[in-house]
Amino acid sequence: MVNQSIRVEESQSRKNKPDSSELVFGRSFTDHMFVMDYSSGLGWHNPSIIPYQNLSIDPAAMIFHYGQSVFEGLKAFRTQDGDIQLFRPEKNLQRLNHSNERLVIPPIDEEFGLEAIKQLVELDKEWVPDAEGTSLYIRPFIISNEPYLGVAPSGHYKFIIIMSPVGSYYKEGINPVKIAVENKYVRAVKGGTGEAKTGGNYASSLKAQEIVEKEGYSQVLWLDGLEKKYIEEVGSMNVFFKINGEVVTPALNGSILAGITRDSVLELLRHWDISVTERRVSMQELYEAHQDGTLEEAFGSGTAAVISPIGELYWDGNHLNINEGKTGELSKKIYDTITGIQYGKIKDPFNWVV
Ligand code: COI
Repeated sequence: MVNQSIRVEESQSRKNKPDSSELVFGRSFTDHMFVMDYSSGLGWHNPSIIPYQNLSIDPAAMIFHYGQSVFEGLKAFRTQDGDIQLFRPEKNLQRLNHSNERLVIPPIDEEFGLEAIKQLVELDKEWVPDAEGTSLYIRPFIISNEPYLGVAPSGHYKFIIIMSPVGSYYKEGINPVKIAVENKYVRAVKGGTGEAKTGGNYASSLKAQEIVEKEGYSQVLWLDGLEKKYIEEVGSMNVFFKINGEVVTPALNGSILAGITRDSVLELLRHWDISVTERRVSMQELYEAHQDGTLEEAFGSGTAAVISPIGELYWDGNHLNINEGKTGELSKKIYDTITGIQYGKIKDPFNWVV
């Protein structure tokens, strides 16, 4: 394990920052990045903050061939009085190690990882935007970079953190999106890598996404890989439904990613004494709830979009209109509370921000 300080090499030139009011998601990057190497024998070593730059990687590096990699996503927010705060970063580092375990990547020291994030954010703090709804998206990731074409765990890795000032993830923002239920492709299966945040899960989601986009939908609703009956996730987010006054979300079953925003929504609902259950939710149940008028709200939750209400679900020839295609009251209240805590506008009773 690393027991050393981070070497810092400051950039000699500073890039132009995009206008805070025109930010999109993930297109521009800050002046610096964090890099640390792993090799069997030496362990994780040489932690450095260096000017943001291209990598030089052998074309035989295993990441290019077998996809052994993991990533995380978290945000830094600028509060009204100019301070900068992170939202539950320790959870991202825990999950990174969980993903590492699944992908046979050596674990990182979580405290050290958090220290690296904090030092990087401090150095590039001018990049934390201040316009409404903007933040600095932080992307830690690990790639396997041993040059070898055998299918085996790599002996060399790079842990890198890059950062990007961002606006809202979907052009719709907090406005409801149209979603098509995916009946052909699946995102993950139990025993697969759905619980890990690894690039392959996202690569394999693109085909279904491409098809429904052409039909006018923003994302797909993923069903389970075995029976294609039970709801798993929406796009790259976890999903919640309000049925007859009760909130339900698919239970973590081995193929669903344990979202940190998902966990925050659950904690918030319990804090408000709103009944919320983690269980299996079938598409048939949702359809019936829609038919009898008890499907009140539906929304996705994730770091990038926070809360993304669902205004319409298309399933088997049926257009299920939810809450007249408008943002539900509860969805809005959850969004306002989580973002209120993130931006320091509301007191944080959960110790989420650091
Ligand atoms: C999220 O933060 O909701 C995601 O997982 C999306 C990310 C891959 C951009």
